[in-house]
Amino acid sequence: MKNKLEKLRDDFLESLQKINDLPALRELELKYLSRKGELNGLLGELKDLSLEMRREAGELANVIKQELQERFNEVKTEIEKKEESAAYLDPTVPGEKITTGSLHPLTLLRRELEEFFATLGFMVMDGPELESEFYNFEALNVPPHHPARDMQDTFYVDLKNKQGEYDLTMRTQTSNTQVRAMRKYGVPLKVIMPGRVFRSEATDARHEHTFYQLEGVMVGKNINFAQMKSVLEAVGKKLYGPETKFRMRPKFYPFVEPGSNGEYTCFLCQGKGCHVCKYSGWLEILGCGLIHPDVLRAGGVDPEQYSGFAFGFGLNRLAMLKYGINDIRLFNAGDLRFLQQF
Ligand code: DAH
Repeated sequence: MKNKLEKLRDDFLESLQKINDLPALRELELKYLSRKGELNGLLGELKDLSLEMRREAGELANVIKQELQERFNEVKTEIEKKEESAAYLDPTVPGEKITTGSLHPLTLLRRELEEFFATLGFMVMDGPELESEFYNFEALNVPPHHPARDMQDTFYVDLKNKQGEYDLTMRTQTSNTQVRAMRKYGVPLKVIMPGRVFRSEATDARHEHTFYQLEGVMVGKNINFAQMKSVLEAVGKKLYGPETKFRMRPKFYPFVEPGSNGEYTCFLCQGKGCHVCKYSGWLEILGCGLIHPDVLRAGGVDPEQYSGFAFGFGLNRLAMLKYGINDIRLFNAGDLRFLQQF
């Protein structure tokens, strides 16, 4: 009897495995599990056994019956689920659109400039956003209490440095990395340092507390103003086309001597004058100059032997002009309608 029951179970499970539609399943149910099915047939035979064997076989029969019913139900649910979803499959429904992200306009611009400067032999360096006052100001020839500090509305940070002093700020300029670069790599040096900077600004369409700059430094023997001009001119042609002209006008920055601003002919009107350049024909894009001897010294470079130039671009301003963006706050707003355009 035991053998018969086990064989029935094995046969049942084997057939069940091969089934994948409801009619076949129904057939199997009839054959084994229905009132007139094989299992009940076997149970009917129990009454011919001795009491002892009847009990034993009865127990086994119950266990098997339950097992078969459970396995049967499982397979049934599976098949029903499959058939249900297949019934709803409508091949004419348009596919689900897979949306891909896009790069931020500032990232696009930064990468374009990094690639360009790489062709001129500049390497790329990252600087810290949380910075000591030393690298952000002192090393750049702006001692404490010097009025030049007022030019930048600084976020001072309520944190002590390793020496226990309140000396940290959010960097106001990527110039903070100039002296770090000189100390780390020495001369000759050609490096750009793009990154995020912070100022305590009241925001409006043209002012942001968090924005991006791209700093550059070249130090070596006999580095001069003419070389600086040719590099910056080349950047302008790369950004705005081969007709672009570059000009400089004196401007004070504590870490360069002489210092200058840098302007390109307006890419929109080619210098004729339009609303983008406020009818001047020129766009002010950068600051630059020959590195002040004090700054070279802070970087461990002997100003008697070496000279260098430095420049700093405002990346947000560049991107606004390049892509026609009219509000600087859009860069940090995280609005997909804006970002998906790039
Ligand atoms: N750090 C300056 C600013 O944020 C920009 C600048 C001016 C950078 C002159 C330079 C430079 O490297 O030589 O306004």
